Amino acid sequence: MTDDDAGVIRSVGEGDAPGTPDAGSDDHVITPGFVDAHLHLPQFDSIGQDSMPLLEWLNTVIFPAEIRWADGAYARSMTRRVATTLLSHGTTTVAAYATAHAEGTQSALHALAEAGIGGAVGQVLMDQHAPFELCFPVDEQIREAKLLDAFARGLDAFPRLEFSLNPRFAISCSPALLRACGQLAADLSANRERPVMIQTHLSETLDECDLAVRLHSGPGLMTPADYASIYDRNGLLTPRTLLAHCVHLSASERSLIRAAGSVIAHCPTANTFLQSGTMPRRDLVRAGVPLALGSDIAGGPEISMPRVARAMIDAAKVISGPAAARDVHDDPRLPSPARAWWQITGGNAEATGFVHAGRLAPGLSADLVLVRPELHSQWLTRGDPLGTLLYSWDERWIAGVMALGRWRYLRA
Ligand code: GUN
Ligand code: FE
Repeated sequence: MTDDDAGVIRSVGEGDAPGTPDAGSDDHVITPGFVDAHLHLPQFDSIGQDSMPLLEWLNTVIFPAEIRWADGAYARSMTRRVATTLLSHGTTTVAAYATAHAEGTQSALHALAEAGIGGAVGQVLMDQHAPFELCFPVDEQIREAKLLDAFARGLDAFPRLEFSLNPRFAISCSPALLRACGQLAADLSANRERPVMIQTHLSETLDECDLAVRLHSGPGLMTPADYASIYDRNGLLTPRTLLAHCVHLSASERSLIRAAGSVIAHCPTANTFLQSGTMPRRDLVRAGVPLALGSDIAGGPEISMPRVARAMIDAAKVISGPAAARDVHDDPRLPSPARAWWQITGGNAEATGFVHAGRLAPGLSADLVLVRPELHSQWLTRGDPLGTLLYSWDERWIAGVMALGRWRYLRA
């Protein structure tokens, strides 16, 4: 049952509820709406441009797509379209990147709020190693970020939808921009219940790691010990920092991130698509680093979070190598289907600090997916039901998606 005015869950129980589409029969299941912990809103039309490593792909495919967001009306209509796509796949909460444009970012916040999608959207901060159309002076970006933060806090959707600071990565941010961003994060977080969210990319490819360290060394700068230290020395590793990828971290970088309490947004489909490597999930779990899971559209080609979850299991199996039969069920570091399902709902909500999302519980946002799996009749009582659901997952099973207490998608 939901409280229609606030869009929050009033109570949770079994059986029929008024106003739900055909939800009463035994062949439907309800799952919390999916949380995607890393994606790029302006990149949804760039999915599938294959066979380029990261830096070439950014220059050839991604930056031209993001330049189009200089037009705020275009950004708004694209975000509306993207929101419809996300909802039809069951995603109701996102940690998202817009572009370097303040107007486009504001349009994106507005369009997601209208669609009932929660989470965070950040203006992408960048001032070097990209086309001039995406690079802006540090002062201007900091001024705009403050205004966008105030704008987001004024929306009815706040705090379910918030503004984040998204320095793209150390290659496209000068030392001065990273410094100013860290200072702004501290300023915006002072006297607030929750620190401002910071999103960035870290250690996705080896070429990127080399170039990042080179760019942040040199005259007047101490050579950083490693890539993660570049963010750390600028105050950008906080408990609300989401670090996408982290495929090639050293042991000391893992310790640094663990000590800071920052979260890694694992993006297995993107790491495969861009051939960046396979993230050693086991080592990160062992090191005690919190993990979230993201599609990284368009680095990853897969919008559906159950399929990203499956890719997470696949990647973990590949990196752990052949297992003795006994290990398959005993090793907590190999995610089970149930754990993968938890990851794309409650796990991602917990890791990102989106406290209103990811679970069906009184007081939380009424975000849910009504599913009618076309499976054999005993799937719920035989074997591992979540394994069956995950590995047989089909978007056509989604009968309806509710976000903030309203049906936003109903299958025709
Ligand atoms: N590193 C910096 N920017 C990006 C991006 O847009 N996508 C991916 N996958 N990696 C990045
Ligand atoms: Fe990304």
